[in-house]
Amino acid sequence: MDAKKRCLISRDEIARRVAELAERIGRDYAGGDLVMVGVLKGVFIFMADLVRALPFPVEVDFVRLCSYGAGTATSGEVHITKDVELPLKDRDVMIVEDIVDTGLTLDFLRQHLLSHRPRSLKICCLIDKQERREVEVPLDYLGFVVEKGFLVGYGLDCGEQSRTLPEIFVLEKD
Ligand code: IMP
Repeated sequence: MDAKKRCLISRDEIARRVAELAERIGRDYAGGDLVMVGVLKGVFIFMADLVRALPFPVEVDFVRLCSYGAGTATSGEVHITKDVELPLKDRDVMIVEDIVDTGLTLDFLRQHLLSHRPRSLKICCLIDKQERREVEVPLDYLGFVVEKGFLVGYGLDCGEQSRTLPEIFVLEKD
């Protein structure tokens, strides 16, 4: 598939926002001991930029969840295909996610990680895509709000295509 793409968020805008998020997190967790749990695969570029912009080291872990097939619509069911490996009990934990759409994935992951009894659990999400929200999730640190559209680039894919583009694009219907 070779859908048309329109640039929505430039490299500079992404870099500025990531720096702002890192500064806020740096202030809020100063002297803390934070574990960041990234949601594969889409988050890998955002999380790599975010952790390197933080003023202190953090521990990182990843989960892989599956709700989408190869297309652009959620199946509505979320499964864990790779779970966390670090102990989270009594730790300050932050979920790092690329994009929230229906909210089902983040809601599921939040409940799952809460069952590990962390000291605190927050969410840092790069993009809040609001139109199809079914479950409200608290987005404590948020990069951008987008009303709708299917986005690719900066880690986000459509059927594994376009992940490595440095900007964020919206796919356009012909
Ligand atoms: P939700 O469960 O509907 O909130 O969907 C969250 C997951 O769907 C994200 O982690 C992404 O993997 C995927 N997703 C949702 N919207 C988009 C998009 O516009 N582009 C790429 N992936 C998306």
